[in-house]
Amino acid sequence: MPRSLVLQLIREIDTTPVADSGVIDELRTLELPRDEAGWLELRNRAFAGEVPTVRPWNSADFRREMIAQPWWNPERTWVIDAPGLPGRMVGAVTMALRASDRAHTPAIHWLMVDPEFRGLGWGRSLIAALERAAYNDGYRQVVLETHVNWRSAVALYQRLGYQQRRQS
Ligand SMILES: CC(C)(COP(=O)(O)OP(=O)(O)OC[C@H]1O[C@@H](n2cnc3c(N)ncnc32)[C@H](O)[C@@H]1OP(=O)(O)O)[C@@H](O)C(=O)NCCC(=O)NCCS
Repeated sequence: MPRSLVLQLIREIDTTPVADSGVIDELRTLELPRDEAGWLELRNRAFAGEVPTVRPWNSADFRREMIAQPWWNPERTWVIDAPGLPGRMVGAVTMALRASDRAHTPAIHWLMVDPEFRGLGWGRSLIAALERAAYNDGYRQVVLETHVNWRSAVALYQRLGYQQRRQS
């Protein structure tokens, strides 16, 4: 994607992230292999209405883009099960670790909520889970990249205090 369409955002987490959004009962970490199909289906549903959308992934894509990555750890992917709908995943976020020099910075990766379950605070809860884990692991910043036209995501990040990174 052209760099002019990429928003690079950052948030300092100097104090323990406030758990105002709470840890909801439906939030848990990813379990493989049983969650792979649900995660892929959620990704298709979540981005179907976005402009630009994303290319659907299959199992090989998931393995290459996620499991094979040096930062991959299924315990750093949080997912939300639909209440009363076993097997239906309705929210997810992954913490990737971006390498720069010798340091790593946690990054929000593949944040998504099913369109039928939006506006309930689940996007906020997923980010809160990621930020709490990052803080507990000793990190004090969280970064992300998003598309300038993914309006709901940009609005959410701004609401949570993410700010544009200065270009290095
Ligand atoms: C971005 C996304 C995860 C938000 O999920 P959500 O569960 O609906 O978000 P929440 O209900 O937690 O919203 C929290 C806050 O974000 C803001 N927000 C979220 N969606 C918004 C929208 N469409 N328009 C304006 N503000 C929005 C609001 O300020 C909201 O807080 P408030 O209701 O107290 O004002 C969801 O819209 C999504 O999956 N989008 C498509 C995928 C995507 O773009 N992912 C990000 C890739 S980087």
